[in-house]
Amino acid sequence: MIMLQSTKPIISPQAALALILLGPPGSGKGTQSKRLAHAYQVPHISTGDLFREHMSKETSIGMRAKAFIQAGKLVPDEVVMDMLFDRLEHPDCLRGYLLDGFPRTVAQADQLGKKRDLKMPFLVLCLDVVDDVIVQRASGRLVCKQCGVIYNRDFSPPVHPGVCDKCGGEVYRRHDDAPEVVLERLKVYHEQTRPLIEYYRKQEVLTSFDGNQPPDVVYSELKRYIDNHL
Ligand code: AP5
Repeated sequence: MIMLQSTKPIISPQAALALILLGPPGSGKGTQSKRLAHAYQVPHISTGDLFREHMSKETSIGMRAKAFIQAGKLVPDEVVMDMLFDRLEHPDCLRGYLLDGFPRTVAQADQLGKKRDLKMPFLVLCLDVVDDVIVQRASGRLVCKQCGVIYNRDFSPPVHPGVCDKCGGEVYRRHDDAPEVVLERLKVYHEQTRPLIEYYRKQEVLTSFDGNQPPDVVYSELKRYIDNHL
């Protein structure tokens, strides 16, 4: 008998999963989210990516968010909530989703708590990375404008400078990765987002991971943990 080996992830069609990736700027949330979303077949919803898309299309949300993002500040909650809840209404979220960069304040987390499907397994994965490493990673980060693949000038550059290996798109440096903006984003993280660690720890849904390790090691640890909780 020929055994066909499926390339699909090991997850039953009925299984659903809500994941939150929490961590400072540059901790690897985007890098890990792309792989995890693919592995579990859930949409990767990054509020930062949604804002960048709105800014490039010059929508009203993009115009309202731009000055805050460029200054390294958080976009006001009401702008974020409308955009996020609108995205969560899409049918691809019925079987779950992976949130990257949301929530970022206790007020955002409270609103998500009121809205989310309580029957869906809910895990908050926190990537711990020390501040010095954050600054180094952010200053080297490069992103493809077209497909969003994340590179790093120092650790994982594209083969041809400025050109995406995957799609040939233009690889660029985000404006908010300028050193002074990264320092402001870190400050904002410690003041406004870090309290979420205690918030979710009290709810017994948060687990921390050592994000200082190489990306493949971090991914394996996250995946093993999620698999054990499905
Ligand atoms: P957003 O885009 O979410 O930025 P962020 O949270 O600051 O996170 P980053 O995208 O900078 O980093 P990351 O953790 O995804 O790391 P990455 O994988 O790219 O938000 C941007 C702005 O939008 C915010 O500042 C705010 O203004 C606004 N905003 C967004 N959401 C909001 C909300 N909910 N409320 C209010 N405002 C909001 O990795 C970074 C680099 O490190 C890459 O080069 C990568 O290759 C490298 N790297 C990754 N992992 C490793 C590893 N393990 N080892 C070595 N290198 C690694």
